[in-house]
Amino acid sequence: MEKLSYKDIRDKYIEFFKEHGHIEIPNASLVPEDDPSVLFVNAGMFPLVPYLMGTKHPQGNRLVNSQRCIRTGDIELIGDAYHCTSFEMLGNWSLNDYFKKEAINLTVEFFTKLLGLDINKIYASVYEGDGNIPQDEESIQVWKDIFKSYGIDAGVGKGERIEPKGKEDNWWGLESGGPCGPDSEIFYDLNGELVEIGNNVFMEYLLENAEYKTLGRHNVDFGGGLERITAMMQDVDNVYEIDIYKPILEKVQSLNTEHILESERIIVDHIKASILIIMDGITPSKTKQGYILRRLIRRAVRHGKKLNIENLFTRDIAEVVIEQFKDIYTQLEKKKEDILNIIEEEEKKFNQTLEKGLKVLENLLQKNGSLTGEDAFTLYETYGFPTELTLEIMNERGLGITTSSERGLWVNAVEKAQEEHKEKSRTAAAGMFKGGLADTSEMSTKYHTTTHLLLSALRQVLGDSVYQKGSNITPERLRLDFPAEQKLTEEQIKKVEDIVNEAIEKGYGVHFKEMPKEEALKLVPFAAFTEKYGDILKVYYVGPEENPFSIEICRGPHVTNTSELGKFKIVKQENVGAGIKRIKAILQ
Ligand code: ALA
Repeated sequence: MEKLSYKDIRDKYIEFFKEHGHIEIPNASLVPEDDPSVLFVNAGMFPLVPYLMGTKHPQGNRLVNSQRCIRTGDIELIGDAYHCTSFEMLGNWSLNDYFKKEAINLTVEFFTKLLGLDINKIYASVYEGDGNIPQDEESIQVWKDIFKSYGIDAGVGKGERIEPKGKEDNWWGLESGGPCGPDSEIFYDLNGELVEIGNNVFMEYLLENAEYKTLGRHNVDFGGGLERITAMMQDVDNVYEIDIYKPILEKVQSLNTEHILESERIIVDHIKASILIIMDGITPSKTKQGYILRRLIRRAVRHGKKLNIENLFTRDIAEVVIEQFKDIYTQLEKKKEDILNIIEEEEKKFNQTLEKGLKVLENLLQKNGSLTGEDAFTLYETYGFPTELTLEIMNERGLGITTSSERGLWVNAVEKAQEEHKEKSRTAAAGMFKGGLADTSEMSTKYHTTTHLLLSALRQVLGDSVYQKGSNITPERLRLDFPAEQKLTEEQIKKVEDIVNEAIEKGYGVHFKEMPKEEALKLVPFAAFTEKYGDILKVYYVGPEENPFSIEICRGPHVTNTSELGKFKIVKQENVGAGIKRIKAILQ
């Protein structure tokens, strides 16, 4: 059978839902109108919020489209197999029309009948319920009936074909609030790994002032990532090999001799995302969307340097992107010259300042051994160095911005420097570091300490190879990325939870000592520092110094006693790239 192209799959999806009474709505601009809560549309449902709330949609109660989206939250993961800064989300909606049974049946019919996926390889998850909302029995029954109609007797439970899961997995809504509800994800078994290919959200609730209320309507919001679905259909193990992306990757590869795949993919991803952002009317600037755009282009250029690309190159790549995507985004051709010029202009500007900025950065490093938030601000303001880029260079050199709390403090310093200069650009930095890095609220402080306990517990269970690859803390949860080949088993998760909870119950004191780096490194063998510099570091102890439960290099802040923390629970575990696992955990 001939392989379906990216565009074929998109067209088939829209056609199928049209046949089932849906009206196709436009692929809306990435820049939300009149909504300051997010910088870019990040899900197909975003432009539909008023209609999900009850406003009558002029085109009816059944809608379908494929919507361009931007997600910048996981920028450090770009370059792996499946994360994309910009992507198309296939979406269908019922506005108080059909509900669970029809929604799930339509989804399964599309994947099996239209795309020809094997029902034997399909798995589902549903919401397991909580204190207020019951387990989603209706969806369970719908799935059971579907599998039964194919002669499959589907089990319900952990590790079964239909798996009930908690809020982290099976509840969906925008962080800023609005319509939300339990969801049911559909997975496909790709050589033993279950890959999520779509999600039906049953929007019956409303999140308002941090409270869930009933919405008084039953909406369905389906979303499925077109890039991932295409990769699966084309039997390739990453999105850069699918038909629409491959020529772009090949173009990047033809321009360089270094062949660092991650950098090549970052260039493809960032230039493509930049083109869509410019298409939607944004130009590089110091604030908001313009700042994200600037950062994407400059990050692509910097990876070009890593690949030893000597000449200007973004225009060449951008031309291929436009050629590839002009049938999907019909306005691209018309805006082509403008887009190419804007990207190239930014590349030139960056090249001019990069050299100067790098010199200043090297001088500062030589003089002081490290960079302060103020230095980073000067680099940003005077030499056009995005703060994120300075952070990246620091990390590349092992200069110690390795824990989220250190990073948080540093980011704070940047913001403070900006404030002192009374710059308007604050919004950009705030948006850029959205996700709570700079947050020192009581709950976040608790999660900082809990992250240390978790690292220690993981080392006890998995061995000393565990270290903090990435961390992100909000007042609602902690998130930790660490290297591990296999996911933790149920048993290991339980063990880690028990170890952490025991440490909490023991009421260990938490304190720190300041010492020169060399001394600190001797004490903390797991620290991710690699280069020497003469800084004074804080070493945090949980428990007695002679025999601490945990010892980490970190700038804090931390609680003073673990008994303040509450009960620890791991709520989610994910694969987030080659050999990297991610845990999300909460304190109850
Ligand atoms: N809006 C839902 C999602 O992004 C479908 O998963």
